[in-house]
Amino acid sequence: MELPRELTSALRSAERVAVLSGAGMSAESGVPTFRDAQTGLWEQYAAEDLATPEAWERDRAFVWAWYLWRFGRIRHVAPNAGHRALADWARRSSGPHIGVVTQNVDDLHERAGSNPVVHLHGSVAAYRCEACAAPYDAPIHLPDEAVHRIEPPTCPRCGHSVRPGVVWFGEMLPMDEWHRGVEIVEQADLVLVVGTSGIVHPAAGLPAIARAAGARVVEVNPVDTEVSDVAHHVLRETAAAALPVLVAAAGDG
Ligand code: APR
Repeated sequence: MELPRELTSALRSAERVAVLSGAGMSAESGVPTFRDAQTGLWEQYAAEDLATPEAWERDRAFVWAWYLWRFGRIRHVAPNAGHRALADWARRSSGPHIGVVTQNVDDLHERAGSNPVVHLHGSVAAYRCEACAAPYDAPIHLPDEAVHRIEPPTCPRCGHSVRPGVVWFGEMLPMDEWHRGVEIVEQADLVLVVGTSGIVHPAAGLPAIARAAGARVVEVNPVDTEVSDVAHHVLRETAAAALPVLVAAAGDG
């Protein structure tokens, strides 16, 4: 992979890097992207139709079963070479500060060793009450097999259903996480936008915020996206292929 000279020099001189990651970041670990066709029990449903407050209202047990199955898959996969390269870069003594701002609910950045990781759309480990929002910490059994319906547990405080701690379509982002994400992006001199289609707002607005704040913006995605026009450099590669090359090009600092 040939890197333009301006990109290599931006990688070498970067002091603060922001990584904006989406579902494509984890695709090579075996987590299906949101807009991939679904298989098995949920074949005839689009993920976008299950990740909504309306779907939850209609049939909690169905939506709960789908999330537990997705979360179960995440438990069995491992960070890929892309996640690992980012964490290795931050660990170098002369490496830049790297803040990860992810739309993914998986914990693969953390398991690779990245820190901080801001989860704009919630996280696999953050169940809460649908009504009083109390966190739910009791163990939840994740089935290895796909099951059509599982009744969610109830909140010990108020008796309402426990829901996945993720952001559904039409819901607000957690404000603290959003502000932290904007701050990381505004302070960065280099921003890597990895594996996101750039169609879900407000997260999709972060690359433009970064560019307006003066950062060099690099997109890593095998296909053209809404972000491509905002980027200074576009790498039509996968995350696991491109990120180790970028990090190697950054040198020892
Ligand atoms: N490496 C890099 N990019 C990849 C790879 C890969 N191996 N495989 C796929 N991609 C790209 C696709 O080309 C696509 O542009 O990843 C992107 C995935 O897009 P989406 O599935 O739309 O995921 P994302 O952008 O994270 O979705 C945003 O929408 O569904 C909601 O809340 C959900 O967080 C999600 C949000």
